[in-house]
Amino acid sequence: MAEIIIADTGPGIAPELADRLFQPFVTTKTTGMGLGLSICREIVEAHHGRLATAPAPSGGAMFRVTLTIAGHEGTADAA
Ligand SMILES: Nc1ncnc2c1ncn2[C@@H]1O[C@H](COP(=O)(O)OP(=O)(O)O)[C@@H](O)[C@H]1O
Ligand SMILES: [Mg+2]
Repeated sequence: MAEIIIADTGPGIAPELADRLFQPFVTTKTTGMGLGLSICREIVEAHHGRLATAPAPSGGAMFRVTLTIAGHEGTADAA
């Protein structure tokens, strides 16, 4: 597996958003579209990966992309 972690030092994910974060049109911004994370998860899942979030040690937000490395077991359709 390959894992990519992106962490920031922002305010962190609002707790009330946690279970809806990746749904389309969920935003806390007045001019937000709420599509960024939804599209990111679609792309990662189209590559048979996972995208999840967790609190960052820095106090901000952390996003984790997990992918199976092509050519390894279970990736017969990785062409
Ligand atoms: N790095 C982050 N730190 C804290 N909250 C975030 C972060 N990224 C996204 N969010 C929260 O998730 C919501 C949805 O994000 P996103 O899907 O990118 O849409 P948008 O950026 O248009 O609001 C944001 O409005 C914000 O509340
Ligand atoms: Mg965004």
